[in-house]
Amino acid sequence: MSAASRYHEVHARSLQDPEGFWAEAARAIDWIEPAKKIFDPAMGAYGRWFAGAVVNTCYNALDRHVAAGRGEQLALIHDSPLTNSVTRLTYAEMLKEVQTLAAIMQDFGVVKGDRVILYMPMVPEAMVAMLACARIGAVHSVVFGGFAAKELATRIDDATPKLVLSASCGIEPGRIVQYKPLLDQAIELADNRPQACIILQRPEHVCELKPGRDYDWAALRKSALVNGKLAPCVPVLATDPLYILYTSGTTGKPKGVVRDNGGHLVALKWSMEYLYGIKPGEVWWCGSDIGWVVGHSYIIYGPLIHGATSVMYEGKPVGTPDAGAFWRVIAEHKAVALFTAPTAFRAIRKEDPEGTLLRQYDLSQFRTLFLAGERADPPTVEWAEQQLKVPVVDHWWQTETGWCIAGNPVGLGLLPVKHGSPTVPMPGYQVDIVDEASKPVPANTMGSIVIKLPMPPGCLPTLWQQEDRFKESYLSEFPGYYKTSDAGFKDEDGYVFVMGRTDDIINVAGHRLSTGGMEEILASHPDVAECAVLGIKDAIKGEVPCGFLVLKAGVSRSPSVIEKEIVALVRDKLGPVAAFKLAITVGRLPKTRSGKILRGTIKKIADGEQWSMPATIEDPKVLDEIGEALKSRV
Ligand code: COA
Ligand code: AMP
Repeated sequence: MSAASRYHEVHARSLQDPEGFWAEAARAIDWIEPAKKIFDPAMGAYGRWFAGAVVNTCYNALDRHVAAGRGEQLALIHDSPLTNSVTRLTYAEMLKEVQTLAAIMQDFGVVKGDRVILYMPMVPEAMVAMLACARIGAVHSVVFGGFAAKELATRIDDATPKLVLSASCGIEPGRIVQYKPLLDQAIELADNRPQACIILQRPEHVCELKPGRDYDWAALRKSALVNGKLAPCVPVLATDPLYILYTSGTTGKPKGVVRDNGGHLVALKWSMEYLYGIKPGEVWWCGSDIGWVVGHSYIIYGPLIHGATSVMYEGKPVGTPDAGAFWRVIAEHKAVALFTAPTAFRAIRKEDPEGTLLRQYDLSQFRTLFLAGERADPPTVEWAEQQLKVPVVDHWWQTETGWCIAGNPVGLGLLPVKHGSPTVPMPGYQVDIVDEASKPVPANTMGSIVIKLPMPPGCLPTLWQQEDRFKESYLSEFPGYYKTSDAGFKDEDGYVFVMGRTDDIINVAGHRLSTGGMEEILASHPDVAECAVLGIKDAIKGEVPCGFLVLKAGVSRSPSVIEKEIVALVRDKLGPVAAFKLAITVGRLPKTRSGKILRGTIKKIADGEQWSMPATIEDPKVLDEIGEALKSRV
């Protein structure tokens, strides 16, 4: 390993003296009152960081930078090939926008602890809205625009927001996604009704507002500016929630991951400097969506807490207009690093395998590519390295952790890269590989990947109003550990290899989806007797869902018609982001004698991998039938 890297010394210290380590990191944050205890093991399900400290996240992301002379530096560069526009806001301008929207929300009666749902596309106002919530201590919950009305309704019912902030539309290549009908439908479906909705009208599509419930964002802003309404920061406890972000669980009911203020500030600030190697003032681009955790941490909070300039991109890696889009954005805005999902690079490589478009741009200031969201497959990493000629850093994390579990810390000095591994655990994370009895397994042996408690600052303390579900989902199976639900191994150098999930989660183009949730939708179709959904290999998206249906006896309608209805049903109930396009009718599902569907074997057949006949199979002929059905469709 590289002698120049400080990684080993830093990581060892973080585990030997966690409180000392994080107390030192916390000096980079402006606190209103310091922590009474750096870590209080008596609080919460496994202890809480920075107990008793008082802070404001928005102050740390904006006010303090303006006060320190960064007011004229850009906070945000919003680049949208879909609307052919680039919008820039300095830290001073962003602060004014945030103060104004925060005052508007206060006028609607939003106070500390109230929830606000944001159902928004990738527009600058989304950043303003998140920070405005943080400013007044309101808890935001951003819902990804690619989710359908029912998913939004579930989140509205769980978070019970006082307000919803939304927009008239999102823009996808070749189509305008009207948000308002989805929002109206969701509110209709929900038991909890928000008091009001603030709607941003976009010029690409203007929607109707419902009198008495919907308010025009621009009109409210204009009048607040005329009246000089500016909200100050509301002090909150470090342990108070900053946001709730719903993520797929093993049922149709998503998990409301809670993020607190203090630990999040400290962990993100540390990571910007030491993991990503970014200096305040530099331009940083995270090409995710604000609806995902990566967008929360590294489009919005991380770069701003650090005093960097954040690029927000409303576009795709290909087709907006071509596979050179990423290189244009990097060159035009002088980004020093990009963080995206491997799927984006697979899409670019497919369109421009020789990297011809890349050579049209000056990327001389570009230093590092970061990949996460799914396993970075070695061929994609190698291609990116050859094309970009900069380090390509795979790193592994989850919505639950909010920041990286294992990565290669640029700011501490890179360790040698091993393709297929996101490298080593970050400070505060003791990552172990254990067997079913919670016993650590030897190097290079596959097992469940777990994190020794306590988790470091920034990781989830609980699920929103579901402490029991939190304990049951994450803490009970391996006592003393947090269960990641990922499987993998560590090699003799301590490098972590993350090979796949141990539950029903699949990763589709870097988006986390539950096949169990999809099965619930398939099963709701009146003609379906039984079903199974699993992720099958896809050259661009990594995995895509594939549904197998057994129809009820006596159904005479054509299977192909029912399959089309099923595809439409998933799009309608879950959303287009599920990319559910393949439903296959079969006579029977392969099962064990105890009735368990043999999903793993079906997956191997679909992926064209070696498979062996499970000894417990009820009827071996069923697998041949599945193989035949797949051959004609995949
Ligand atoms: N609002 C509405 N619809 C959305 C949406 C949004 N915010 N985001 C995606 N969709 C729709 C898309 O239009 C598409 O619909 P379609 O079935 O009508 O084509 C569907 O959801 C799937 O979208 P997506 O996953 O983006 O696939 P794609 O085929 O349009 O593009 C990639 C493929 C690889 C280019 C794209 O997935 C990509 O850029 N991925 C990077 C992902 C990423 O950065 N993830 C962050 C996690 S770290
Ligand atoms: P999400 O909560 O959407 O961030 O998804 C988290 C899951 O994505 C993890 O549990 C992993 O299964 C997968 N994942 C994320 N990053 C990586 C990575 N670098 N390598 C392998 N798997 C990853």
